Amino acid sequence: MSEQVSHRQLSGRIVIATHNAGKLREMRELLQPFGIEAVSAGELSLPEPEETGDTFIANALIKARASAMAVNLPAFADDSGLCVDALGGYPGIYSARWAKDAGDFVKAMTNIERLMQAKGATEPAQRKAHFVSALALVWPDGHEETFEEKVFGTIEEPRGQSGFGYDPFFRPEGHERTFGEMDSQEKHGIPADGSQALSHRARAFQLLARACLRNDA
Ligand code: IMP
Repeated sequence: MSEQVSHRQLSGRIVIATHNAGKLREMRELLQPFGIEAVSAGELSLPEPEETGDTFIANALIKARASAMAVNLPAFADDSGLCVDALGGYPGIYSARWAKDAGDFVKAMTNIERLMQAKGATEPAQRKAHFVSALALVWPDGHEETFEEKVFGTIEEPRGQSGFGYDPFFRPEGHERTFGEMDSQEKHGIPADGSQALSHRARAFQLLARACLRNDA
């Protein structure tokens, strides 16, 4: 017997639980067609909770719970990262920390490249990676919804100035350009026919929208 999953519909005003300007822009773009009014945790000067979870979903829930409780509104959080096969999936949930510790994303990627070279990951087939996005919706009464998706690709020489974070180093499978060379619409890559989007975040958002925004479109 198949399990009946009941999802809660999201409407009205929400808080986007992020202080990351690149993510905030993308999350607002994804919500925009659904008429959701969103203010961010950064704009409300909410403190950033410590991300102590050991999965993307756990960390997304930590962020969304903190914002939902602080402002008494439904909260929407993304926890994401770059997982490099040759490094056993690192930096993964530590993607932001690696960049912070290195000083910036170029330095973080230089460190990642050095580690990949040390593993002999020089050929494209050895340079595979994926981005993960875990999205969490948390309501002030404690109801929670989570969604996770990935996009697979290859680590390359940095190209492009668009996007944020590790975008210039990642070329998604089946595409010529890195995420850093794509404008955000191309990176989201949401087809009009409802088939799968391109970016990890847009793919996870498609799951969220089907479950929790269907009636609000
Ligand atoms: P966190 O989810 O706030 O812990 O941080 C995720 C880290 O991965 C940040 O350093 C982001 O810049 C990076 N990241 C997540 N998604 C993307 C993306 O779509 N493009 C580039 N970097 C990303």
